Amino acid sequence: MDIRAPKGTDDILPPESRLWHHAVVAFDNLAERYGYGMTLTPLFEQTELFARGVGEDTEVVEKQMYTFSDRKGRSLTLRPEATASVVRAFLAAGGEGVLKGAYSGPMFRYERPQKGRRRQFYQVGVEYLGDSGPFADVEVIELGYRYLQEMGVPDVAVQLNSIGDGADRATFRTVLQQWLRERQDQLSSDARRRIETNPMRVLDSKVDTEVTLDAPTPAEFLGEDSLSHFSAVRAGLERVGVPYVIEPRLVRGLDYYNRTVFEYVPRQYGAAQSAVGGGGRYDGLAEVLGGRPTPGVGLALGLDRILLASDGVDLGPSLDAFIVVAEPDRLPDAVSLSSRLRREGWRIDVDHAARSVKAQFKKADKKGAGSVIVVGAEWVDSEVAVRDLVSGVQEVIPVEEVGQWLSNR
Ligand code: HAM
Repeated sequence: MDIRAPKGTDDILPPESRLWHHAVVAFDNLAERYGYGMTLTPLFEQTELFARGVGEDTEVVEKQMYTFSDRKGRSLTLRPEATASVVRAFLAAGGEGVLKGAYSGPMFRYERPQKGRRRQFYQVGVEYLGDSGPFADVEVIELGYRYLQEMGVPDVAVQLNSIGDGADRATFRTVLQQWLRERQDQLSSDARRRIETNPMRVLDSKVDTEVTLDAPTPAEFLGEDSLSHFSAVRAGLERVGVPYVIEPRLVRGLDYYNRTVFEYVPRQYGAAQSAVGGGGRYDGLAEVLGGRPTPGVGLALGLDRILLASDGVDLGPSLDAFIVVAEPDRLPDAVSLSSRLRREGWRIDVDHAARSVKAQFKKADKKGAGSVIVVGAEWVDSEVAVRDLVSGVQEVIPVEEVGQWLSNR
């Protein structure tokens, strides 16, 4: 067949998909433990939402959006991220009080595809809206850190910085602009253009790092409020036992941030796509979208990258038992046994193709079954042979007792 999946997208099939499923369920459960509830928003939005929310001068909006017109000529965009959507949804619902929302799903960015950089990729994330205090930041940062531990990503550094509030940023902007103008000959053409429109984005440009290495950093311009918020966030992280490193050059690539920004970087991971996740505070985003001022902080983690960086997660057997049909005539009996056991809650599979016993055992192994139930000659006496594939122990037991045997394994 010559129809392929679009460049930069992936098909994820069993058995590999089991790990993806686990990753999403583990995140949902963790988010629930921290008091976040499932938040579903559309996979496409009005283009305006991202242009305003994420920022016109960002790589994401300038170069990476999948934008199209619908049949009525409206400009729509496949979501490149979910923060702007969650804030929009919160405002649409009245924008009252606090929302602690968790989400997971595909995001879309037109990037040059490589390992860990896809055009359709999968994020899990949380947004905490309506709380401006430092403990909200701490909670969000901790949640991401614990998740990476649970997913077997070793040696994660939480890189932390503060980029300050509006007034701090204005001072920083002027100083940075001047500094960059003096070196514009050495900068890429995108960076040169952004000196005037959005100089902070230049610090985030990977191709310009050599030049910007000694550039002024936002931390030097923090006002009193930003400073005390930042030190409270740091103290909070220490209190809950999340290690971090201050990264003065970290500014993040999206325009909506203020104060706290952070990224999770596995230490042994290659430099190109180094962060497996990131986030920060975005107290001005709701207003930019036309809503009432609403503080917010959140994070998103990329599953594609997490699974590449993970040392592995022990998921145990994927089936409780695989039923091997030793005599082709016994297939209907095997089918009724599988039906009964599944109704009792066991994870059971059975091969309907009447292959050799050897081939069926192989399949049981390949499917990751914990045990095998052989429906064969003993069936006339209402018995089956059972084998625990972990311990290797095999015995013949009454068919009525299979459920009991599975429980005792
Ligand atoms: P982001 O840093 O753009 O932040 O993306 C978060 C994570 O998504 C990245 O660290 C990475 O793991 C993953 N990711 C991004 N682009 C790709 C790609 N092309 N292929 C594979 N993985 C990718 C945000 O999206 C913000 N919405 C995070 C946030 C939430 N800030 C506040 N709340």
